Amino acid sequence: MNILSIETSCDETAVSLVKVEGQFPEATYEILGNALHSQIELHAQYGGVFPTMAKREHIKKIMPMAQVALTEADLLTESTEEIPREIQEKLHEILFREEGLADELIAFAEKHERPEIDLITVTSGPGLEPALWVGVNFAKAISYLMNVPVVPVNHMEGHILASVFDVEEDDKLSQIHFPAISLLISGGHTEIILMTEWGEYEKIGQTLDDAVGEAFDKVARMMGLEYPGGPKISKLAEEGRRANLPHFNDKELPRPMIHSKDLNFSFSGLKTAVLYAIDKKELTEEEKQALSRDFEDAVLEVLLKKTASAIEEHGAQTLIVGGGVSASQYLRQEFNRYCLEHHASVTVYFPNPGLSTDNAVMIALAGHAKAANASNPAAASFIKADGNKSLDD
Ligand code: KG4
Ligand code: ZN
Repeated sequence: MNILSIETSCDETAVSLVKVEGQFPEATYEILGNALHSQIELHAQYGGVFPTMAKREHIKKIMPMAQVALTEADLLTESTEEIPREIQEKLHEILFREEGLADELIAFAEKHERPEIDLITVTSGPGLEPALWVGVNFAKAISYLMNVPVVPVNHMEGHILASVFDVEEDDKLSQIHFPAISLLISGGHTEIILMTEWGEYEKIGQTLDDAVGEAFDKVARMMGLEYPGGPKISKLAEEGRRANLPHFNDKELPRPMIHSKDLNFSFSGLKTAVLYAIDKKELTEEEKQALSRDFEDAVLEVLLKKTASAIEEHGAQTLIVGGGVSASQYLRQEFNRYCLEHHASVTVYFPNPGLSTDNAVMIALAGHAKAANASNPAAASFIKADGNKSLDD
């Protein structure tokens, strides 16, 4: 079966085609096409993502991305076909708020044979609602045009599956031992999820204010670095570590909530501590390296402590780390080292390179998992974008 998947929750317009053989979780997955347009350059000028601007850019890029993914997957055959007027009208109705997109889709359909797609999966939340709606409405339109069911997917479930999935190794998803703990660290979320089974999620910890990625991005901005600052901070931190620099201002940064009895986080105080430490000074390269290293160390210590408590409290056999911040090599190294020293029986998973930040492949995987658990796919017309969608709704 071929899955067409769509992701537009934040600042990446992504469409992928994944070929699936077998039933979840024993299935094997082959990425046939994977197209992604990043809006980073657009948003970098403003220092962050503006939802209406993201929406406009998704509308512009989603059809081209679908075409790239379908072409890569070798699923497009040219032909001429008239799309009946009533179908055209309905497509305009579904894509009423995505100006010009219905016409683009109709023009595309008139030039190609219907591609072999068996399921559409789309991120319906959490994320920026105006951005999410573009993907959701586009999915509904294709579903109607091609008569294919749609599965709405939770973006965070996508991050979980992206971490376990292995491009090189078949059947990886069936090898997960439960209970599993997922630490999800992205630009919008920081949460600890207890999984007792595929599809069974309980949020047992979360940030009370900023998400980890958000804190990285804000601290980067204070240092005059461009959005998204996470990767830049990580790189500077690595340099600071290699040079064995002393603490910035000779002071350690705070580890917020590290001693609280719960599994929650707070990063806004740490961010403010960085702001006061900089004190409006122009930083030298070395100072940026020291401060980045101090900041990353503080974040990591809290993440490790809470994750370790979650593993112990629930006797977890598996740790799944996912979301954009899990791209940090130092974070991976420290989590692996910690687990090896303290929980040698726990298997640790991180996303494959290229799958830690937002992508559509993870939405295909999570959609397949969800379709396997649902007896009937939801009627496409009832699917809604939900910016605050939670994994344990
Ligand atoms: O998962 P993601 O692509 O988007 C959301 O769902 O939010 O995560 C993006 C976040 C950004 O805040 C970015 O700065 C951060 O992930 N990030 C990193 C690294 N790569 C991306 N943070 C730290 N180190 C990295 N190497
Ligand atoms: Zn994400």
